[in-house]
Parts: sequence; structure tokens; C-alpha cells
Amino acid sequence: MDSPQVRAGTIAELPEIVAIYNHYVLTTAASFEIDPVTADSRRPWFEQHVGSEKYRLLVVEGADGRLLGWASTGPFRPRAAYGTTVEASIYLRPEATGRGIGSQLYAALFRSLEGADVDQIVAGITLPNDPCVALHRKLGFGLVGTFHRVGRKFDRYWDVAWFQRPARP
Ligand SMILES: CC(C)(COP(=O)(O)OP(=O)(O)OC[C@H]1O[C@@H](n2cnc3c(N)ncnc32)[C@H](O)[C@@H]1OP(=O)(O)O)[C@@H](O)C(=O)NCCC(=O)NCCS
Repeated sequence: MDSPQVRAGTIAELPEIVAIYNHYVLTTAASFEIDPVTADSRRPWFEQHVGSEKYRLLVVEGADGRLLGWASTGPFRPRAAYGTTVEASIYLRPEATGRGIGSQLYAALFRSLEGADVDQIVAGITLPNDPCVALHRKLGFGLVGTFHRVGRKFDRYWDVAWFQRPARP
């Protein structure tokens, strides 16, 4: 089987990107969205990545041309001085997990930041999520700390652990 291909996501793929995301919105607390998103509601998010050096959206495509997942970098916080830090996210189809694809996609995402005015990369992980924590540690992230009970979803409160790594280790 041809190895999965990583490339920039296109607007035509936004519905598939949203479908992958909504699986986790509806079934997990990995995302703190409560209601599923639509391609229309996510269009501003997509546009943020177009032509940007620091806000990237990469997809990984399987041999059959179907998207297996996506990863992105976006703003960490709105205040301008935070501009040299980006927040990373990654979501694979459930059937694509545990095969090294997340490592491949994330490594490509961080390589794509080379030359960008980015100094730090952060990620917030809703706990528990062992594969996600393992992936971030593998890609050079260290635990900064954990906010306790900072989100409520599915009638329970969730902790979020924050991880950080330099853009250029
Ligand atoms: C998190 C996620 C992106 C990881 O991608 P993946 O392709 O499954 O991960 P990889 O196969 O590249 O494995 C990365 C590391 O995590 C470890 N890992 C993978 N699955 C694991 C599991 N179920 N439990 C513990 N560790 C696991 C692997 O051992 C590997 O470390 P190693 O190479 O040092 O052995 C993927 O599982 C996913 O999309 N999960 C659902 C979406 C989600 O939770 N996103 C939110 C934040 S990440």
C-alpha cells in the first residue's frame, strides 16, 4: 500500500475535514465544542490558514484518496504579543490511528513552520487521552501544567493539560 501523503488542505476538502472533527465533537471531550460545526461555520477558520506562514492546515490522504486526518496551527491567544506562539491541533479518523500517521502528519506540520516568525508551539489536551499525550511527548513537547475542571461536557467536568515545545528545538 502506498504510504499516506501529507499536503496542504484545500477548501474543497472542508466538508471532509469537518466530518472528521465532528466525530470527536460528538463522541469525546478532545474538543470543547459542544455542537457539531458546519463547513460554513468553519470557513473563517479555514481562511485563516490560506497564505499564512504560521497558521498551517495539513491533511493526510490515504492510497484511495480519502482523507485520513488533519492537523493545524492557529493563534494561541488574541493579544498581539502572543503572535510568536501557535496552538497545534490534530485529528485522525478512528480507523487511521495507531499506525504512525499522527507522528508523520505532526512532524510535517512543524517542519512547515520553518522560516515562520514562530518561537513556541503549545497544545491543550483534555485528559485522559494517552495516545495524544504520547504523541506530543514523542514530538518534543513538555508538560507545562494542568487546569482542573476547566470545561464541562457530557455532564461532567474535564481537566486540560497544556504542553509546549520550541518551534525550532
Ligand atoms: C492522537 C492521535 C493524533 C495520535 O496519532 P496516531 O497516528 O494514533 O499516533 P502514532 O501511531 O503516530 O503514535 C504516536 C505515539 O503515541 C503512542 N500511542 C499511539 N496510540 C496509543 C495508545 N492508544 N495508547 C498509548 N500510546 C499510544 C505510540 O506508541 C507512539 O509513540 P512511539 O512511536 O514512541 O511508540 C490519534 O490517536 C487521534 O487522532 N486521536 C483522536 C483525536 C484526538 O484525540 N485529538 C486531540 C488531541 S491530540
